[in-house]
Amino acid sequence: MSETTAKLTLGDETYEFPVLSGTVGPDVIDIRSLYAKTGLFTYDPGFTSTAACDSAITYIDGDKGELLYRGYPIEQLAAKSSYIEVCYLLLYGELPSKAELADFENRVTRHTMVHEQMHYFYRGFRRDAHPMAIVTGVVGAMAAFYHDSTDISDPMQREIASIRMVAKLPTIAAMAYKYSVGQPFVYPRNDLDYASNFLHMCFAVPAEEYKVDPVVAKAMDRIFTLHADHEQNASTSTVRLSGSSDANPFACIAAGVACLWGPAHGGANEAALNMLREIGTVDRIPEFIERAKDKNDPFRLMGFGHRVYKNYDPRAAVMQESAREVLELLGVENNPTLQVAQELEKIALEDPYFVERKLYPNVDFYSGIILDAIGFPTSMFTAIFALSRTVGWIAQWKEMIGDPQKKIGRPRQLYHGATTRDYVDIAQR
Ligand code: SDX
Repeated sequence: MSETTAKLTLGDETYEFPVLSGTVGPDVIDIRSLYAKTGLFTYDPGFTSTAACDSAITYIDGDKGELLYRGYPIEQLAAKSSYIEVCYLLLYGELPSKAELADFENRVTRHTMVHEQMHYFYRGFRRDAHPMAIVTGVVGAMAAFYHDSTDISDPMQREIASIRMVAKLPTIAAMAYKYSVGQPFVYPRNDLDYASNFLHMCFAVPAEEYKVDPVVAKAMDRIFTLHADHEQNASTSTVRLSGSSDANPFACIAAGVACLWGPAHGGANEAALNMLREIGTVDRIPEFIERAKDKNDPFRLMGFGHRVYKNYDPRAAVMQESAREVLELLGVENNPTLQVAQELEKIALEDPYFVERKLYPNVDFYSGIILDAIGFPTSMFTAIFALSRTVGWIAQWKEMIGDPQKKIGRPRQLYHGATTRDYVDIAQR
């Protein structure tokens, strides 16, 4: 039971609410009895001061710029682990033994193919459809192809649905890319690791052998790891809310994909590279900095700012280092976009407007530069974010489904609409 309480005084009544503590991070005031006791709601649009769940998966310290996956710092995982191992860690809570990792990787590898009928599903889309529109539709349609793993009350079906989505999202995203460029789909290969398989499915063509560059594959794998999970962000909260109605797992993840697409969220990586290209040269940076500060201009520095990080996003730091490595390998270290990004970051971090608001580069600021250098069109950037984040969404969804306190999410509101009034016949209007 809670040791401390919070007191709320309304008029001549005082109410007490338990204060709960986690292993780390801010305490919370448990207000579940607030409405029953006081007849009042709390009001927190955007959930800036609201803990929506009790979780043990990912922790962010926004002031320190710290990100932990099951307690392990993201810098260490990016440097020493692999995405498939991070998937195991997020899903099952501990780093795997060698045998556990081999078994998990084997299970994922053997689910990377999609039902052959899905190829016809793609044919219904226009060739110029945005890959995220296709991925959103195809992930939702997975329930139509894998109906045998949609019963969320069956732990076995929850497990197989989870493995299927971790395994098939790269195939689905790669097929969206191939369809958009008019090339034939490339089947997954069981002899390639997760990142190499994705690169092969995207860039191989039947006319010749495609050799995956190991440095590019490592950079790809690291990008997957950096995007894998991030507490209760907008798309994860969407997945949890969808799952609270006992919707099937494919529908919940499709809802997360749809939410991630927004340019304020996962769509920022595409928007950030487009912005860096629009700026074009270092001498035009001041003009865009002024626009970002102008309240009458909707323009924002894409890839900058974050609801939680009020310090440097640790993922952006790793991403910047990776960008330098990949560009050097590809012999484009003088990439003008990287130069604009680094100068823009330098100028912004010296400008009082950004300093006062603690606006730093976030995960989306540098990722696009690497993805562009590898050969992806900007339209694929958020689809890559989505396939990376699928394991985080699933881990959070499984935690929510397994929570004995699970309830359907149903927020209330502050109402400023019309009060009761009688219908008026059209003849009298
Ligand atoms: C992701 O939640 C997550 O964890 C998300 C994510 C994940 O891994 O899941 O980290 C991934 O979505 C990263 C964020 C990607 N989005 C962008 O880069 C888009 C640009 N950034 C912003 O739109 C904004 O910073 C948000 C949406 C990221 C955060 O918005 P908040 O926390 O609601 O902050 P706010 O909009 O209230 O801004 C506070 C102030 C405002 O100025 P004032 O009204 O106080 O004068 O900062 C300003 C804003 O105008 N501001 C910016 C800015 N971001 C905030 N001004 C210029 N450029 C920006 N990018």
